[in-house]
Amino acid sequence: MSTITVAAVQTHPIFGDLTGNRDRAAQLVRANDAHLYVLPELFDTGYLFADRDELSSLSEPFSGGSTVEFLCALSKETNSVIVAGFAEADGEKLYNSAAICDHGRRLACYRKIHLFNTEKKIFDPGDTPPPVIETSVGRLGPMVCFDWIFPETMRCLALGGAQIIAHCANLVLPYCQEAMVTRTLENRVFAVTANRIGTDDRAGDCFTFTGGSQITAFDGKKLACADGTTEMVITSEITPTLADEKSLNPFNHLMNDRKPHLYTALTNRPI
Ligand code: ACM
Repeated sequence: MSTITVAAVQTHPIFGDLTGNRDRAAQLVRANDAHLYVLPELFDTGYLFADRDELSSLSEPFSGGSTVEFLCALSKETNSVIVAGFAEADGEKLYNSAAICDHGRRLACYRKIHLFNTEKKIFDPGDTPPPVIETSVGRLGPMVCFDWIFPETMRCLALGGAQIIAHCANLVLPYCQEAMVTRTLENRVFAVTANRIGTDDRAGDCFTFTGGSQITAFDGKKLACADGTTEMVITSEITPTLADEKSLNPFNHLMNDRKPHLYTALTNRPI
């Protein structure tokens, strides 16, 4: 059973300052010694795009884009796995995505399924199931911010074998951190939520981000918490294989005790 150090990197992106945002994230990563680093959603662009044209001008492909190249190089330099949110362009489509890089390898890309608020006006929603990624630190389940409010997201990742939820966030509501206690408990997985701080006040809109990055254990314990206003890295030692045991007691198994044939409302209710 091997123990690893996981880190949530809480940053303060300045809108559109890709170089500065990357430099600051790299400084925070280099100042620590973790096996897994999770960075916020849209960590190098900032969050509040004026419109789809502006988003398009700051979006890049997963393959060959400078953001993902940067993340891969940083993961190689620091012998780590890095999960970070970025603005992804794929042809005409624009996604709010998370890249997973492992020791210099561009492993996988997850496209946020559940878009929040006015994101719906400018991003395309991800349309593939939440993936579970085999990495050198264990099986990761990526989520991007508002995915947390749909319990189906983490349930699918847990059923797929994820041990650690890598949650890139730009949270504006105060509920996620407490909800993560229940999400991790009901799925017996670890979660690393990396949130940002600061305010994007532009294009006639204003969002203040709540920080409070958090590492949550498979039994719902909060292992590490950041404050709401400081750029910082929180770390914790975890043993990912503990998430493979889904029994609560000799009679209750969180996955095997489910009754999908009775959950008909999940699939029968028209959207
Ligand atoms: C969010 O999904 N960025 C709240």
